Amino acid sequence: MKKVRKAVIPAAGLGTRVLPATKAMPKEMLPIVDKPAIQYIVEEAAAAGIEDILIITNRGKGLLEDHFDRAPELENHLSAQPGKAGVLRQVVDISRLANIWYVRQKETKGLGHAVNCARDFVDGEPFAVLYGDDVIIGKDPACGQLVRAYEEYGLGVVGVKEVSQEAIRKYSSLKVEPLRDNYFKCTDMVEKPLPGQELSLYSILGRCVLPPEIFEILDATQPGAGGEIQLTDAMKALARRDGMVAVDFTGKRYDMGSKLGVMQAGVEIALDHPEIGEAFRAYLKELAQNL
Ligand code: UTP
Repeated sequence: MKKVRKAVIPAAGLGTRVLPATKAMPKEMLPIVDKPAIQYIVEEAAAAGIEDILIITNRGKGLLEDHFDRAPELENHLSAQPGKAGVLRQVVDISRLANIWYVRQKETKGLGHAVNCARDFVDGEPFAVLYGDDVIIGKDPACGQLVRAYEEYGLGVVGVKEVSQEAIRKYSSLKVEPLRDNYFKCTDMVEKPLPGQELSLYSILGRCVLPPEIFEILDATQPGAGGEIQLTDAMKALARRDGMVAVDFTGKRYDMGSKLGVMQAGVEIALDHPEIGEAFRAYLKELAQNL
């Protein structure tokens, strides 16, 4: 079984649900306290042993590239100042997380179309996909949990969670049978099910590991919901043909593509932040008394 060494982070959506913040800036650069969302995602992939990461961009490319690059002027400035060694190390470490590559999705034609732009980078290997607006925080990186399932079963893997009846309408619904622990076999899926069409309340949330055969399937995938090429439609074909493994991953997921998700991530991560956690907790308690 080939090891999973590569990851793709699609970050070329229009982010219309978080406008106007995302008018000129990709939603993947929205900060959670002091780090942009995409840095949490790159850190998760690196912690799972991924060496090469392709970020799919369309606009704001410079901003993303600059964030993961060295910043000599800033570094020189920080190294000349007393007491700034910690922040200097943080700034430099970002550029050492992984080998990061970039490609542009020239037209915003959907997540499936975005992933199809990764074909040359992937070059016949299995690869992880980490949706650029889904931040998952946990001790065991979600990406690593999926990679282990791929390396054990040799089938495509989707990261899933059970969601509410209302939420399933916006996501995908999976046909699953238990395998063991938090592993399920998935043999079918439906994107944005209408009432009565649900196969279960398990939905794909933000992570998958795909075999390179997905590209042939994507080539044959017609535009679906919203006139876009949906990755779920290609994964449905894969699940029906070969079966996939669904992993109910551990970790808390934040939807950085929605205003509420951005605020939940900010508040919860601030509460645990080594620098401001304590002061923020005291502030929040006081605020909550008057709500
Ligand atoms: P979404 O459907 O949540 O992204 O895609 P969106 O189109 O930006 O959402 P709206 O406009 O707020 O509804 C999930 C992930 O796929 C990427 C997005 O950047 C996001 O990380 N994506 C989506 C692409 O890279 N290309 C696309 O054409 C669509």
